[in-house]
Amino acid sequence: MLLVTGGAGFIGANFVLNTIATSGESIVVLDSLTYAANPANLETLVDDPRLNLVVGDVGDRSLVRSLLEQHQPRALVHFAAESHVDRSIAESDAFVRTNVNGTHALLEESRLFWNQLAPQSRDRFRFLHVSTDEVFGSLGPQDPAFNELTPYAPNSPYSASKAASDHLVRAWHHTYGLPTLITNCSNNYGPFQFPEKLIPLTIHRALAGESIPVYGDGSNVRDWLHVSDHCTAIRTVLEGSSPGETWVIGGNAERRNLDLVQTLCDVLDRLRPDPEGRSYRRLITFVTDRPGHDQRYAIDAGRLRDQLGWTPAKTFESGLEETIQWYLNHGDWLENVTSGRYRDWISQQYSGRQG
Ligand code: NAD
Ligand code: DAU
Repeated sequence: MLLVTGGAGFIGANFVLNTIATSGESIVVLDSLTYAANPANLETLVDDPRLNLVVGDVGDRSLVRSLLEQHQPRALVHFAAESHVDRSIAESDAFVRTNVNGTHALLEESRLFWNQLAPQSRDRFRFLHVSTDEVFGSLGPQDPAFNELTPYAPNSPYSASKAASDHLVRAWHHTYGLPTLITNCSNNYGPFQFPEKLIPLTIHRALAGESIPVYGDGSNVRDWLHVSDHCTAIRTVLEGSSPGETWVIGGNAERRNLDLVQTLCDVLDRLRPDPEGRSYRRLITFVTDRPGHDQRYAIDAGRLRDQLGWTPAKTFESGLEETIQWYLNHGDWLENVTSGRYRDWISQQYSGRQG
C-alpha cells in the first residue's frame, strides 16, 4: 500500500482517485485538512476499504511513526504543503512549518522505518517528494526551459520553502541512502482545484459576475499541465526511476496569463452564455502586481519522455474545456468551498489592489 500525505487537497485527491481506479492499490491518506483540503474530494471512496483517511499533521512524528509501522507502505508519496504563493507573501510561517519542518519530520521517520525493514522491502521502499518548477526561479522570454540540471533560484517564500524541502530530500538520500525521488512539476489545472488559483478563480468569479483580477499587465507565462497527466507522471517515476533521481514534469503548454484568462472567458461565453449576451471578458481587471512575480516558467520534460516513456495524454485545449465543464457541473462543490474563510481571504487579498 501507499502512504499519501496531502491526499485531500487538489493534486493529492486526484492522485488517490486515479491510483485506486487504475491499480486498485490501497492508500492511507495523512492530511491535516487545512483550508485547502476538502474531504468531499474523496467522497466517492468513502465506503471503500482501500482508502483510509487519517486526519493529522505531517509534523506529528509519533503519528507518522505509527502509520508507517502499522501499514508498512511500499512508498510514501508526499504532496502535503502550503501551496499558494500569495498566501506565502501575506504570511510565511505555515510554509516553513509544513513545507520545511513537516518534510524533515517525514524524512526522519521514513529513515528510521526504512532502516529496520527486511532487505527486500528496503530495496523496494521509496520516498517520493512532490515539488514544483518554482524552485528554479524565473525565465526570460528566450531562455531555454527548465530541466533537471537547472540551478535552484527560488524567489517567493513559497518557492524558497519548497526548495529547502527538496534540499533536505536530496541530503537524506546522499547521507543516509534513503531511496528518495523528487519531481518538479509546472502549473496544474483540473477538477478539485481550490479557487484561490488562477483558473478556478477566474471561472468562479466570471460565473458570479465579479471582476477577474489579472496581476500586472498579464504578460507572465506559465506552463500548464492537466492534473491527471501529473498523476500519471508521478506513478511513472515511482515505478520506473532509480532512487536518488529528480525529474521535471510539464505540459509543453506555455500561455500568457492574459491570453489564458481571455480563453477561459471565451469558452464560458460558449458553454454558459450570459443571459444579456455580454462577454465575460468585460470582467477582466488589471490589478497591482504580485510582489516578486516570476515572469515565466517552462519545462523541458524530454528526459522523462525519453527515459521513462511519459508524455501528457491531454492537449491543453481539450483539458481546459473539460475542466471548465467540470466546474460548471459541480456548482455545489464550488459553492461549498467558497463560503466563510474563503471570502475572508479574497477580501484581504484583493481589496485596495485595483490597478
Ligand atoms: P493544495 O493546497 O490543494 O493541497 C495541499 C494539501 O496538503 C491539503 O489537503 C492540506 O490540508 C494538506 N496539508 C497542508 N499542510 C499539512 C500538514 N501540515 N499536514 C498534513 N497535511 C497538510 O496543494 P496542491 O496544489 O494539491 O499541491 C500538492 C503538492 O504539489 C504541493 O507539494 C505543491 O507544492 C506541489 N505542486 C503543486 C502544483 C500546482 O500547480 N498546484 C504544481 C507543482 C507542484
Ligand atoms: O508552477 C507550479 C506552481 O503553480 C505550484 O508550485 C503552486 O503550488 C501553484 O499555486 C502554482 O503557482 P502560481 O503562482 O503560478 O499559480 P497561481 O494560480 O496563483 O497564478 C498563476 C499565474 O496567474 C501567476 O502568474 C499569477 C497570476 N494571477 C494569479 C491570481 C491568483 C493573476 O494574474 N491573478 C490572480 O488573481
